[in-house]
Amino acid sequence: MRSIRKRWTICTISILLIFYKTKEIARTEEHQETQLTGETELSLSRLMVNSSYKILHKGRASVFQHTVEGWKINTSLVLEIRKDILRFLDAERDVSVVRSSFKPGDVIHYVLDKRRTLNISNNLHSLLPEISPMKGRRFKTCAVVGNSGILLDSQCGREIDSHDFVIRCNLAPVVEFAADVGTKSDFITMNPSVVQRAFGGFQNESDREKFVHRLSMLNDSVLWIPAFMVKGGEKHVEWVNSLILKNKLKVRTAYPSLRLIHAVRGYWLTNKVHIKRPSTGLLMYTLSTRFCDEIHLYGFWPFPEDFSGKAVKYHYYDDLKYRYFSNASPHRMPLEFKTLNVLHNKGALKLTTGKCVQQ
Ligand SMILES: *[C@@H]1O[C@H](CO)[C@@H](O)[C@H](O)[C@H]1NC(C)=O
Ligand SMILES: *[C@@H]1O[C@H](CO)[C@@H](O)[C@H](O)[C@H]1NC(C)=O
Ligand SMILES: *[C@@H]1O[C@H](CO)[C@@H](O)[C@H](O)[C@H]1NC(C)=O
Ligand SMILES: *[C@@H]1O[C@H](CO)[C@@H](O)[C@H](O)[C@H]1NC(C)=O
Ligand SMILES: *[C@@H]1O[C@H](CO)[C@@H](O)[C@H](O)[C@H]1NC(C)=O
Repeated sequence: MRSIRKRWTICTISILLIFYKTKEIARTEEHQETQLTGETELSLSRLMVNSSYKILHKGRASVFQHTVEGWKINTSLVLEIRKDILRFLDAERDVSVVRSSFKPGDVIHYVLDKRRTLNISNNLHSLLPEISPMKGRRFKTCAVVGNSGILLDSQCGREIDSHDFVIRCNLAPVVEFAADVGTKSDFITMNPSVVQRAFGGFQNESDREKFVHRLSMLNDSVLWIPAFMVKGGEKHVEWVNSLILKNKLKVRTAYPSLRLIHAVRGYWLTNKVHIKRPSTGLLMYTLSTRFCDEIHLYGFWPFPEDFSGKAVKYHYYDDLKYRYFSNASPHRMPLEFKTLNVLHNKGALKLTTGKCVQQ
């Protein structure tokens, strides 16, 4: 049997994974573990997802085969999940810190590295939203679009764009892939590391122009920047902020609250999903349960090949390789996927990994 441990493929670059030093992860994880034990007892969920991790290692991707035909939403389950998640976080509030919570010069401790601090600069402060960018917003159907290469040749673009609210990850390019991924983006995440990886660290003017152009395409969508997770990206965040201000971009910046990741993790732990750190994709699903009656997931696929054995790229838009099971990785994407698959089968969300049917 071929090992599926390596080179898993799915959306979501980890939050700032690139900046970690392994030893620090170990320490912060330990720290989180103790912090979270109290929370796990709060909620008695009935989901009881069986997250026996071993089967992920034994089986191949076909373990997670699911069918989209005849999928039906279970509205009462959706409401139940929303209510359960609300005990841990209110996405309206936790989706972003707000300006009134800080003043320039305030020092905050990084969420996953409490010993390190960040100073709130004038630019950062001026870009904090006055009120939550998601306040009072409700949608009938939402798409959460992961970045897996499983989207290539899917022809899902039109279907994705037909949703009322489209969430994307890590400033993924869309125009060149519109037929498969669509172009609509109402909410898009951006790890600070993207500046280095996709925009040459803003070394020269053309990199900066490319970035400004990409952001201007977003119009007044929400740009969600996890700036307070770990030390390492603050320089990039500052550059991004000053480009937004200098070019008067309309994009609505948001910076996740300091408690968000712990709360999301706490919710999943109570459902017996033992993720060390939720991926951006899982964060987005968890947040969107607050705003969306029907959640459709695309581009989630943590395997190096599809059901037929064809290779699947980690990202649909680049050649990045990713070792999901290396010890340095804080994520458990196959476990997350297994969980989402269970939720699909129960009608809590719809997971599309195949081709989209043309209407
Ligand atoms: C979870 O799945 C494993 C592997 O399929 C199985 O052995 C175990 O009994 C299951 N546990 C529960 C609680 O269903
Ligand atoms: C929908 O979910 C509820 C709550 O989890 C459950 O009791 C019910 O049996 C489900 N209905 C269907 C049709 O699966
Ligand atoms: C943050 O602010 C403190 C106190 O104002 C200052 O001592 C420190 O050098 C600042 N750090 C950075 C990285 O700007
Ligand atoms: C800017 O940098 C990119 C790579 O980051 C390179 O492809 C491009 O040629 C450079 N442009 C100029 C004008 O130096
Ligand atoms: C932003 O506005 C332009 C021009 O109206 C439009 O072509 C584009 O699709 C919009 N972008 C998004 C992400 O909605």
